Amino acid sequence: MGFKEVFLFACVLGAASAQTYRVCVSSLQTGATCSSLSRDDSQVTCAIQESRIDCALRLAAGQADFGVFSEEETLLLSQMQPNDNRVIASIRDATRLDNSSFEAVAVVPSNHTNGLEGLRGGVYCHPGFDSTEQRWSPRVLRNLEELAARTDRCPNVDLAGRTAEELEVETLNGFFSSACRPGRWSRNETVDAALKSRYPSLCARCGPNPTCSGYTIDMGVAVAGASITNRHIQALECLRTNVNASAAVAYVAWQHVREYFNFRNPQDIPNFSLLCPDGSLVALSAAVLSNSVSPCAFIRQPWGALVASTANADAVLASLRTWWPGGIKPTTNTWQTTLYEVLAPGENTRVVFQDAPISVLNYTSSIRTISPAESTSSCLPAVRWCTISTLEQTKCNWIRAAAHILGIQPTISCQQRNTPLDCLMDTRDNQTDFLAIPSNYGYLARQHFQLTPVKLVQNERADASRIAAFVKESSVLTSNITRFENLRDKVACFPEYGGLAYVSFVRAGQERGILSSTECDYARIVGEFFGGACAPGAIDASHALSQSDFNASVLCTACRPTVPIVGSENASVCTYNYNTNMYFGNNGSLACLSDPNSDVAFLNTRNISAYLTSLNLNETNFRALCRNNTLAASTGINIDDGCLLAYVVDAEVVTRRNDPLYNALNTLLDSLGGYFGYLSENRNQLINLEIFSPLNGAKDLLFKDSTIGLTEPTTVSPHEPARNYMELIRHLQACTGTAPPIPGLASHVFSHSIVILLIMGFMTRFVIY
Ligand SMILES: *[C@@H]1O[C@H](CO)[C@@H](O)[C@H](O)[C@H]1NC(C)=O
Ligand SMILES: *[C@@H]1O[C@H](CO)[C@@H](O)[C@H](O)[C@H]1NC(C)=O
Ligand SMILES: *[C@@H]1O[C@H](CO)[C@@H](O)[C@H](O)[C@H]1NC(C)=O
Ligand SMILES: *[C@@H]1O[C@H](CO)[C@@H](O)[C@H](O)[C@H]1NC(C)=O
Ligand SMILES: *[C@@H]1O[C@H](CO)[C@@H](O)[C@H](O)[C@H]1NC(C)=O
Ligand SMILES: *[C@@H]1O[C@H](CO)[C@@H](O)[C@H](O)[C@H]1NC(C)=O
Ligand SMILES: *[C@@H]1O[C@H](CO)[C@@H](O)[C@H](O)[C@H]1NC(C)=O
Ligand SMILES: *[C@@H]1O[C@H](CO)[C@@H](O)[C@H](O)[C@H]1NC(C)=O
Ligand SMILES: *[C@@H]1O[C@H](CO)[C@@H](O)[C@H](O)[C@H]1NC(C)=O
Ligand SMILES: *[C@@H]1O[C@H](CO)[C@@H](O)[C@H](O)[C@H]1NC(C)=O
Ligand SMILES: *[C@@H]1O[C@H](CO)[C@@H](O)[C@H](O)[C@H]1NC(C)=O
Ligand SMILES: *[C@@H]1O[C@H](CO)[C@@H](O)[C@H](O)[C@H]1NC(C)=O
Repeated sequence: MGFKEVFLFACVLGAASAQTYRVCVSSLQTGATCSSLSRDDSQVTCAIQESRIDCALRLAAGQADFGVFSEEETLLLSQMQPNDNRVIASIRDATRLDNSSFEAVAVVPSNHTNGLEGLRGGVYCHPGFDSTEQRWSPRVLRNLEELAARTDRCPNVDLAGRTAEELEVETLNGFFSSACRPGRWSRNETVDAALKSRYPSLCARCGPNPTCSGYTIDMGVAVAGASITNRHIQALECLRTNVNASAAVAYVAWQHVREYFNFRNPQDIPNFSLLCPDGSLVALSAAVLSNSVSPCAFIRQPWGALVASTANADAVLASLRTWWPGGIKPTTNTWQTTLYEVLAPGENTRVVFQDAPISVLNYTSSIRTISPAESTSSCLPAVRWCTISTLEQTKCNWIRAAAHILGIQPTISCQQRNTPLDCLMDTRDNQTDFLAIPSNYGYLARQHFQLTPVKLVQNERADASRIAAFVKESSVLTSNITRFENLRDKVACFPEYGGLAYVSFVRAGQERGILSSTECDYARIVGEFFGGACAPGAIDASHALSQSDFNASVLCTACRPTVPIVGSENASVCTYNYNTNMYFGNNGSLACLSDPNSDVAFLNTRNISAYLTSLNLNETNFRALCRNNTLAASTGINIDDGCLLAYVVDAEVVTRRNDPLYNALNTLLDSLGGYFGYLSENRNQLINLEIFSPLNGAKDLLFKDSTIGLTEPTTVSPHEPARNYMELIRHLQACTGTAPPIPGLASHVFSHSIVILLIMGFMTRFVIY
């Protein structure tokens, strides 16, 4: 038993005794934490969670009793599970015990007129999109400018090819005369740099030689209580130095307004007012500034909270009051202290108990409400993510809501279909917009469905697709097969027609000169070379790669039905599912190779050793034929990268070619990767949702779990399997010989494939590998 198992075991034992509560603990916490939580007469046990979304789902299902959620997560829960669980306490800063963790306010010169519209043509001083101290989401950071400049509306603007960031910054540039709005305007560096150079006036007020990476204004002497390196204090100084502009505003946290005027610039108090969301002004005064609660705020933020399952909320709340009297960290070295450190970390933290448990919606709605995505206006239409299962749809809806809460644009909508091929078809037909597909379908997506990649995934080395050719050792010996040429008229096994292994062989064959490099009918070129083959799907309209008069049934002679037909043992089948075609898919190809009639298989070597064992096959029966046309020195499946026919990413995100939303989707994916991918350090994540990880234990939803990030679909990507993949595709698409590609709107082909897909949808389950 590993360490983790040991303490999990301990947790299970603990759960058997009465009066213990299961507390959500992040899987990033060490095992020592859980052991420490369980010691002595502990009344809690660890319920390890991959993410806090998992915790919320477990609470709602009664599989955990309580856990902690961040500020933005309480807002997410109030949309996704408004009444499922109960807030029992908030986690506050002991130095600021008010009801909200921050208040975003607008400070203007006292002679300001005409409300929000009065800001037009004025100076805008902003703490910055890279300011981390306040944990402001993009939605918070943009709230004032959205209301004042109406960045959510783009009348008479051609949206084609535009990104959400571009539309927003363009509107701001037309509204404010100049600004300092530091930090990243887009998660996409190219887009960010282009906007910074196109709209320099939005950085002009950052100080001398503005680069927009922060303020360079002279902050004068430091004063205790108002840090001169704080972005909010700097934004207020920006406002003060622009007080003579026709209009000016600083959008900052109330806490820092108080610091700035009380400690640093009390003489300026009479010259400034708060601009309220309704357009009214409240003059600043010593009295106003002595109050820790602002007279009016654009946004007030609920504190992070302890949330319990509804069933146990009363009991957990009563227990917590006894474990942590006064909501203060116990000074003893006990499990109660460890629990406090896990749930309410930090120096100045204070837990404020609710009088009674309340729903998450009730908890947030008295402080901040965010209208749901579907009733929020924005310039760009929602992009439609195609999902293929209820679980994927659930994960998509969480991502959609989380992105909306944070203010990531454009909005996402989630569209459920049955299979990846349904999604490819509906994406082609503008019924959905994008999805991640296995790279196995990459060539098909391009040729048959006219789609294009918007991102490739990145994989760990061990998870990328590794395509190799294996010749049966007996064929090597009896037929003297040492080179690709020797495979002519032999029998070959492929996981699927047009799949990654299939097209990798086409490339290797063309590179080695054994397949014509001017023949672009990839059914004919392979079908005429081998004496027989199993390439499931070869005769199916849904897999057609080109308009061809070649009879592709020769590509299925080696496939065998899963349930043999008595009396016709050699009868072949060409379906592309495990239920009916025994040799379909990667594992099927291995089984196919072990058929006495076959000689060579092209397949993905990832995870095949387990399948070899289950098929009772001995890897010494196979020998790799390398891409450089030499046989591997020894038999077996462990081959070096140089021998592979392809070493490429295992998935990519595809959308329509030349779609007007292509760029907006591209930068949306950059944002999703930034906020919900592995790039974001977990501790600083505003919402702990992991798009590349399982949701509530369900694997491979929307993205395979093997995904570690996204990368650009170019041959200069820094990720080797991505470069290799683009080179493979480039090779295949460079062929412009005899076979015309399937035209974009050949409706008879499509309706045919729709019928086939409908039928197949009932008969089969598509299996991705
Ligand atoms: C803070 O919240 C509590 C409980 O909801 C309420 O009674 C109190 O009036 C609030 N305080 C302020 C200053 O809004
Ligand atoms: C603004 O103008 C007034 C007089 O109109 C002047 O006294 C003051 O110094 C100016 N302030 C700044 C920051 O330029
Ligand atoms: C406010 O006063 C300053 C200087 O006193 C002036 O430059 C500015 O135009 C005035 N703003 C408005 C909106 O009247
Ligand atoms: C600041 O306020 C004082 C007193 O109300 C006023 O005399 C002065 O002109 C104001 N300065 C600016 C720059 O508005
Ligand atoms: C939520 O608030 C409503 C209206 O104030 C109240 O009727 C309801 O009981 C509350 N529910 C919970 C679970 O807090
Ligand atoms: C695709 O569908 C959307 C939503 O129905 C529509 O607004 C858009 O114009 C369509 N695009 C094309 C190119 O037809
Ligand atoms: C196998 O082929 C090689 C070269 O193609 C040839 O030199 C060798 O004699 C052949 N061996 C047999 C047993 O046919
Ligand atoms: C293709 O060939 C197979 C076997 O030779 C034959 O049964 C089938 O009718 C042919 N299909 C077409 C469309 O010619
Ligand atoms: C199946 O194929 C094998 C080898 O090609 C052959 O010997 C056998 O007679 C065939 N069986 C049937 C039922 O056609
Ligand atoms: C595979 O075959 C080799 C040589 O024939 C033998 O040494 C080895 O033990 C076999 N492995 C398994 C797992 O059967
Ligand atoms: C071919 O590739 C294999 C695998 O990388 C390597 O071991 C072998 O030396 C290469 N042979 C030639 C002739 O380049
Ligand atoms: C940024 O977005 C553009 C499209 O707007 C895209 O071409 C580019 O690949 C994206 N990524 C990076 C890193 O620039």
